[in-house]
Amino acid sequence: MTKEKLKVTIGTIEIKNPTILAAGILGQTGANLKRVLRSGAGAVVTKSIGPKPREGYSGPNIVQTPCGLLNAMGLPNPGMENMVEEIETVKEKGGTVIGSIFGEGLEEFKKLSRKMEEAGVDAVELNLSCPHAKKLSTIGNDPEMAERITKGVSKESDAPIWTKLPGNTNISNLLEVAQSVQKAGADAITIANTFPGMAIDARAERPVLGHETGGLSGPAIKPIALRLIYEVYKKVDIPIIGSGGVMNGEDMIEYLLAGASAVEIGTGIMWRDIDIFEKVCEEALPYLEDRSVTKLIGSAH
Ligand SMILES: Cc1cc2nc3c(=O)[nH]c(=O)nc-3n(C[C@H](O)[C@H](O)[C@H](O)COP(=O)(O)O)c2cc1C
Repeated sequence: MTKEKLKVTIGTIEIKNPTILAAGILGQTGANLKRVLRSGAGAVVTKSIGPKPREGYSGPNIVQTPCGLLNAMGLPNPGMENMVEEIETVKEKGGTVIGSIFGEGLEEFKKLSRKMEEAGVDAVELNLSCPHAKKLSTIGNDPEMAERITKGVSKESDAPIWTKLPGNTNISNLLEVAQSVQKAGADAITIANTFPGMAIDARAERPVLGHETGGLSGPAIKPIALRLIYEVYKKVDIPIIGSGGVMNGEDMIEYLLAGASAVEIGTGIMWRDIDIFEKVCEEALPYLEDRSVTKLIGSAH
């Protein structure tokens, strides 16, 4: 019964609980994706994969701040050809895998999405949102571009398409983008990626990150992402996946109440270890009483 209470569906995909590994953390190898699934996650999202292997920016790539992490990785990834094999090893074991992709234009997104489908993913997440990658940073803030890419990919795809939006506090712009991608055929929207930020070393008198600026994740962004979901939930009918600072069961419950159908967890793994997925589910149970998690979705409205 407890297990049943945690089940959620995101469009046509049913997952055993609402915790999902976020893109970019432990998502580059089949072995790590399987480890996360064994540790209790309902599903896993791969690292964002591009057409070719990519090294990313020179370091430092990550810096800890008082209530979050700043990262400027520069989308290092093994490239699609190498990733296909990794995903296939996870699918052989039956886990739910979402393939995250990034490209420089529609044709690249379409090609990568097809490859992800061939590898057997359950859904494709379009990363329109990396705040620190050259050429990519504006796609998710531009309603027309976001619509064009989502529409182009979803038209040709049999797999559900999740569009992941940037950490964007310009609410009227975000709502416009969210409605555009819904119109374009997105099956779900992930909100949000990291929020732009930076750290400066007062003694060295220079930026800490190799790339100078980066993306902020963790507890610092939770109230901000929560509000974005609350607002977007009022305007779209497709499922929303929450992302930003989920550290414990109560955080997940808050996201569900705001309107998310599930949550992606990244930074929390570094705070609480890989079994955070199991812990979050355990900690959420007292809030459910005799209800299933699906009953909570959007009920703070
Ligand atoms: C080190 C690091 C790498 C990330 N890489 C990606 C990525 O490749 N693609 C992506 O869509 N998001 C990426 N993200 C963003 C996360 O998926 C997530 O949306 C964000 O960190 C907020 O969730 P959190 O506070 O639980 O980490 C990355 C985040 C971190 C901290």
